[in-house]
Amino acid sequence: MATATWTRRHVLSLEDFTSAEYDTILQTAASCREVLSRRTKKVPALQGQVVANMFFEPSTRTRSSFELAAKRLSADTLNFAPGTSSLTKGETILDTAKTYLAMGADMMVIRHREAGVPHAIATEMDRLQTNVGILNAGDGQHEHPSQALLDLFTITSLLDFEYPRLKLLADKKIAIVGDIVHSRVARSNIWSLTASGAEVHLAGPPTLVPQEFTEYVQGTGDQAESPIPNRRLFLHWDIEPALKDADFIMTLRLQKERMTAHLLPSLREYHQRYGITRDRLKLCHPGVKILHPGPVNRGVEISSELMDDPQFSLISQQVTSGVAVRMALLYLMGSGKS
Ligand code: NCD
Repeated sequence: MATATWTRRHVLSLEDFTSAEYDTILQTAASCREVLSRRTKKVPALQGQVVANMFFEPSTRTRSSFELAAKRLSADTLNFAPGTSSLTKGETILDTAKTYLAMGADMMVIRHREAGVPHAIATEMDRLQTNVGILNAGDGQHEHPSQALLDLFTITSLLDFEYPRLKLLADKKIAIVGDIVHSRVARSNIWSLTASGAEVHLAGPPTLVPQEFTEYVQGTGDQAESPIPNRRLFLHWDIEPALKDADFIMTLRLQKERMTAHLLPSLREYHQRYGITRDRLKLCHPGVKILHPGPVNRGVEISSELMDDPQFSLISQQVTSGVAVRMALLYLMGSGKS
């Protein structure tokens, strides 16, 4: 498996990822997918290493897929659940991380409802001069890098199964529809998809797709210093211009738990204006495919029958890709440690 262009200890955000890093992940994930197709779906790559899954927020897909990925690489896993842990006795998150460090954790996969928690733990691990790698598995509304990478792997594999790579998306149009403002998945995907050269179109009601969002890419950091200049990001408050000739649609869950104000009239009206339906697909490129990170509110962001239609929906491929991509991340971060 290729590790040539990998130097990162932590994966916290995709903002500063280079094209070479994306391609290294995609190629390594393709090798991992091959491992997963064998009769014995396991390699000894991380034997003896400890991966601590620290999910301070509920998760089905991400947590299970990191756990399976670690096991397929022969790492030992520690699973932490906030309800049954010493957090309920008042232990701080940094102390929890230090406890796992003392047990010999080599990597920590962290999800937390507050943005910046994985970063804070990574800073502390570096300050203590440990070798521990931190993987952000979703922090508040900030980022969810492994989700965006598995989305990237899913769509580039569709275009070239053997050799998925970033540039395959250079002339594609991708619509991201729905609750962008509360979505860490959207924020990470904006970095990876615009890095490919694709045109990325955001669509949703103004309360969920605020005008300032274009500045998310254009205003962050110095464009000249960014590893990826000239990102192409567009914003719409109607869904039609975003869907017109789109090759891929990424629809997002309405994050009811993160909505502090009443940002929507009703779910029915939302579906009428922004829901992905068979009728709306007529606007898109004929071969259009639909992604959704899950969990899905059936009949809200996407019609229920479309979600289950394998001609259009990539949702189950996304889940399958998740294991290979998370194996690739753990492998790249973990190789060289032991
Ligand atoms: C997402 C998350 O938790 O950020 N889900 C996931 O990881 N597959 C998206 C969501 O919760 O809507």
